Amino acid sequence: MLKKALENVLTVKESDELISAFDQIGDIIILRIPDSLSSKKKIIGETLLNEVKIARSVFYQASAVEGDFRTRDLEILAGEDNTETEYKEFGCKFIVDVENAFFSPRLSTERERIANLIQDGETVTNMFAGIGMFSIMAAKKKKCTVYSLDINPVASKLCEKNIELNKLVGKVISINGDASEIIKDQLMNKSDRTLMLLPERSDEFLESAINTTKNGGIIHYYSHIHADKKFDAGKLSEEHYLQVTPVKSEILDSKIVRAVGPRYYQTVVDVRISK
Ligand SMILES: C[S@@+](CC[C@H](N)C(=O)[O-])C[C@H]1O[C@@H](n2cnc3c(N)ncnc32)[C@H](O)[C@@H]1O
Repeated sequence: MLKKALENVLTVKESDELISAFDQIGDIIILRIPDSLSSKKKIIGETLLNEVKIARSVFYQASAVEGDFRTRDLEILAGEDNTETEYKEFGCKFIVDVENAFFSPRLSTERERIANLIQDGETVTNMFAGIGMFSIMAAKKKKCTVYSLDINPVASKLCEKNIELNKLVGKVISINGDASEIIKDQLMNKSDRTLMLLPERSDEFLESAINTTKNGGIIHYYSHIHADKKFDAGKLSEEHYLQVTPVKSEILDSKIVRAVGPRYYQTVVDVRISK
């Protein structure tokens, strides 16, 4: 679709060079343009703004997702320079800020899987909740209470807005700060289920995840794993979890969430802990 819109602007060779993976979030388009096409990025942006009916802004992704807040730098190419937009997923509405708080439309299948696993009556700790997407989808679908923690003040503020937007005040509770500190101060042995979606640093936070989870509760442990063969990734992440965990754990499931590079995967292991 992107290449079609640009057929009058780029040669076939240039068009092939353009990374076709781009994100459309609400009325915002985010492009990753290879260095070879950098001199044409303005015209690419303007063409897309004209050709894609619902687009209000086209941004160029000028950095990887990085730092403690897992955010990226964006540069406006065409349209309005406003990084906030509304995004809908499985009947929930979210105000997202595509530059100042983590957001990925590519986790929607995993968000739905988790919401389906939650049982009515559960208390859930979402340790790295961002703008509250997992938390809100879960509380919309099931009668549960979700503590939605994040260290980025912009993410926590948006989470509060999203809780109101989805009429979930009191069911989802947004708390800003470091997840380990919040757990130590307020959430020890509170949750039936704990989500730890900061795959790069899961091992560092595993003890806190165990602290907030009740005896017999479930932890969804996300990690990044290298695997030569795709079908080994789940098994390898189970083995890794069992090596690092200090508590008795029953593996319930494991799977690839998404590919994050060549032979490199984001995985999740679901475990029931005994302590
Ligand atoms: C990969 S994002 C996950 C966001 C969310 N689960 C989602 O699907 O949209 C990781 C989040 O962890 C937050 N974070 C990083 N370090 C943290 C910490 N020590 N305590 C709490 N949140 C933290 C970041 O600000 C970021 O929003």
